[in-house]
Amino acid sequence: MATHTSPLKNVLVTGGAGYIGSHVVYVLQKTRQYKVISIDNNHNSNPAALDRVSQLSKSELPADATEIDIQSTEIDSYKCDLTQPDQVRAVFEAYGRGGIWGVVHIAAYKAVGESSEIPLTYYANNVAASVSLLQIMAEYDCHRIVYSSSATVYGTPPIIPISETTRLHAYSPYGRTKIMVENIIEDLCHSDRKWRAVSLRYFNPAGAHPSGLIGEDPRGRPGNLLPLLAHMAVGRVKDATLKVFANDYPTPDGTCVRDYLHVLDLASGHLLALNALGPDSNVFDPEATDFYKAYNLGKGKGMSVLQIVEAMRKATGFDYKYEIVGRRRGDVPDLTADPSLAQKELGFTAPQDLETMCRDLWHWQTKNPFGYGEY
Ligand code: WQD
Repeated sequence: MATHTSPLKNVLVTGGAGYIGSHVVYVLQKTRQYKVISIDNNHNSNPAALDRVSQLSKSELPADATEIDIQSTEIDSYKCDLTQPDQVRAVFEAYGRGGIWGVVHIAAYKAVGESSEIPLTYYANNVAASVSLLQIMAEYDCHRIVYSSSATVYGTPPIIPISETTRLHAYSPYGRTKIMVENIIEDLCHSDRKWRAVSLRYFNPAGAHPSGLIGEDPRGRPGNLLPLLAHMAVGRVKDATLKVFANDYPTPDGTCVRDYLHVLDLASGHLLALNALGPDSNVFDPEATDFYKAYNLGKGKGMSVLQIVEAMRKATGFDYKYEIVGRRRGDVPDLTADPSLAQKELGFTAPQDLETMCRDLWHWQTKNPFGYGEY
């Protein structure tokens, strides 16, 4: 089969059309060092997102952009389901052995509550498909992966803020899939020093690229707080009242505390992690027995539900009403990161504040009241 060649480093992003994926693709393109290949089954994403990312990257090219610079703004996008190995293998085949430099593996189902209702679907899509991806990567001599994990792996952490040495203990099938794949990748790296991998434990990504061209576009009613508040303010959700899932937690105002970070800061963390997998990286000790690390990506600043509501009230001008109802199954009181390891070893920072996150989220939502439109 013909192979694609490119002087840029080919990087495969799974879930590239998604909320996190599209911002990661944008950040990779901005470096003009990588050529992005995206595979996505569009289960919870719209392919239009990638057209917007490419448009955005092209708009930011310098006047003296080279042909390679222009190539770096193109995305080879494949509608592909990770649970179908033949579809995934066909993508790798198109670039040949060694043709794909690394993988950023973001695609996963991620609803905590839903995972308890359909656990097998979550294990098939998040775990079995990841094993299949890793096997195909090995077949095609691709041994670098950045894996999208989650703070959910900490369950109810004993100490706040949370460091990476905190024991992992998930309560939901979703959280357990994240721990399983982290362990699978760590075992793989331990078995063969050709592998280099970083797991990134996301805290709560929020906001959107300030252009308003790309953003979070969940199917149906958002389950997460910030997109729900944006949908309420733009009239996409007709609820006049927000249900706050309890205020009897051991937190300053009794509502849950989370560590929100701007999605572009989160995306930049992926670039740092990808670069860490390169030959000239100093993140890994060359004498180490394996090349695997896990990092928290958070701001290290916790905000409560009520603080988020107030921040969105300011950003949108919408007069949110809320009522306190019972706890939501699976919620934990506080997930605030200690991001110092990622700061020290990757140079990760998450400087953008909550006001910026809410302003960018609202700009996206007002420019795209119905997201990317019909799927
Ligand atoms: C935040 C807080 C709710 C809605 C989610 C995903 C998880 C992970 C991170 C991927 C909680 C409260 C919410 C509402 C509310 N993503 N809330 N009323 O639960 O921290 O985790 O994002 O890894 O998989 O589930 O985020 O936005 O759902 O909730 O009171 O209508 O807002 O109880 O305390 P969460 P969230």
